[in-house]
Amino acid sequence: MDNPISKFESWWQEALADSQLQQKSAVCVSTIDENGFPAGRFVDLKSVSDSGFIFCSYFDSAKGKHIAREPKTAMTVWWDHVGYQIRVVGSAQVITDVEADYFWQDRSRSAQVITTAFEQSEILNSESDLVIRLEAASAQFADRPIPRPNNWGGYCIKPISIEFLTFRESRLHLRELFEFKSNGWVKQLLQP
Ligand SMILES: Cc1cc2nc3c(=O)[nH]c(=O)nc-3n(C[C@H](O)[C@H](O)[C@H](O)COP(=O)(O)O)c2cc1C
Repeated sequence: MDNPISKFESWWQEALADSQLQQKSAVCVSTIDENGFPAGRFVDLKSVSDSGFIFCSYFDSAKGKHIAREPKTAMTVWWDHVGYQIRVVGSAQVITDVEADYFWQDRSRSAQVITTAFEQSEILNSESDLVIRLEAASAQFADRPIPRPNNWGGYCIKPISIEFLTFRESRLHLRELFEFKSNGWVKQLLQP
């Protein structure tokens, strides 16, 4: 398969099909912090298309601030049960409000309340504040629909390279690297 987006979709579907994981679409997104260090964390991959890889978060979280300063981003996947590693490098950009609204509506109400109750990556004074803040947010919205907070939305990582590794116990891994050049995706194999 010579289109890496189609290949990703196919591997993702294959991985989802018989995954024992609770969080089946967790992927590691790495950003670059204010001191130039990489910062990785797992997020939930929402969708993939020719535009790139979408995940949702707070714009004013640590990762959001990193991306605002430096959009260069990596995304890394390891699906153990099928033996697939995928490494994406690209630039993250904020998705449209319409797209963010769609992903917001797709969240459970309890996830919406929790998202609204907190300022991700800020200091939490004590564990009991988790409950206090949650109760305050629940009371604030009672039975009303919860609007998407202005500081929550999504990012799309537009890839410049995608590497697919098929893991082999022998360590004779197959590595297929796709790089985006002026005339489209160019594929090369890499030594294991
Ligand atoms: C399986 C899993 C999925 C997660 N999904 C998300 C997500 O989709 N969005 C998000 O903002 N944080 C998600 N988190 C929490 C992040 O790992 C991280 O703690 C949070 O985004 C704060 O990161 P930051 O301080 O670097 O911005 C997830 C964590 C785990 C373990």
